[in-house]
Amino acid sequence: MAVIRIEDIAHVRFAAPNLAEMRSFLKDFGFETFEEGGRLYGRGRDGRPFLHVTEPGEARFLAVGLRAASLADLEALSSAEGVPVETLDEPGGGHIVRLVDPDGYRVEVVAGQDSAAPDLSCADPPRNSAAAKPRLGTPVRLKSAPAHIQRIGHAVLRVRNFRASEAWYKARFGLLTSDEVEAAKGVPLGAFLRCDRGDQPSDHHTLFLAQLPGPPGLLHAAFEVAHLDDLMLGHQYLKAAGRKPAWGVGRHIMGSQIFDYWLDPFGNELEHWTDGDLYTAADPPNKQTMKALLAVQWGAPHPMQVGRLAPPVGLVAFIMALRLRVLRLFRRNPEGTPA
Ligand SMILES: [Fe+2]
Repeated sequence: MAVIRIEDIAHVRFAAPNLAEMRSFLKDFGFETFEEGGRLYGRGRDGRPFLHVTEPGEARFLAVGLRAASLADLEALSSAEGVPVETLDEPGGGHIVRLVDPDGYRVEVVAGQDSAAPDLSCADPPRNSAAAKPRLGTPVRLKSAPAHIQRIGHAVLRVRNFRASEAWYKARFGLLTSDEVEAAKGVPLGAFLRCDRGDQPSDHHTLFLAQLPGPPGLLHAAFEVAHLDDLMLGHQYLKAAGRKPAWGVGRHIMGSQIFDYWLDPFGNELEHWTDGDLYTAADPPNKQTMKALLAVQWGAPHPMQVGRLAPPVGLVAFIMALRLRVLRLFRRNPEGTPA
């Protein structure tokens, strides 16, 4: 039984040497931005006080924020972990428990932040399809603009030991596995983990923990935009602004999102997405292959698959070592059950 069950991801926190440069990018990406207390904040349209924070300093990822349901949950976490519940001295107030995960990542669990009503005015207009024509006498007229970020959806962390990290996050936050990704049968590389909200639907993933070679860090953070046209307009806007594309547009297999990845001026990868899968706690976990992780249902292939991006140093050797390990296990026991 987990200490608490988190409701969602709350924010991601970075440091950057030039807040003006970051602010300019965040505006093009579709955030509403403001500065307070020497920090730069990015807000979406879900009414939450902030989703993206930048502090002055050498460029790096600083922390991932998770949202607890109540102050009582923070107190439960505080007594289980032997750390204090602190007042959160940031926009929206509230309280915070600060933890450090097995890889040294800062995890900021927040609750009680002020929240405004979500702005859902950027609704998807009716679409005509072969089967149904609900849009009658009304032309489509889209305005060039940055995407409308609604909320933060997930973060992807590179971890050194997937099983250790999975156990750590599940024990504290009640996360559930949606898809576990395997390098070979029985050899996990990572998993897409979602919040346990009982019979209330939850995004396919809130955290993806990936045991991949390379330095520790955030692989990307993802933000939900209003709808498909909004995502495509956002893509066009970022392209026209000369921003650096990373991967997209396409539709993922795991989570099914339509995605579009971009790099901020300091090399952090941020994703726009729309139309992702939702599951309740009753939905069982699945196993997936490494191939399915990078494959798309349609759209731009992953840059590594078309040679535009070199595989991370050691990736091939890492996968080979995992496969060899599995082969050895099966060779030892020809019945097919690993020893
Ligand atoms: Fe993502």
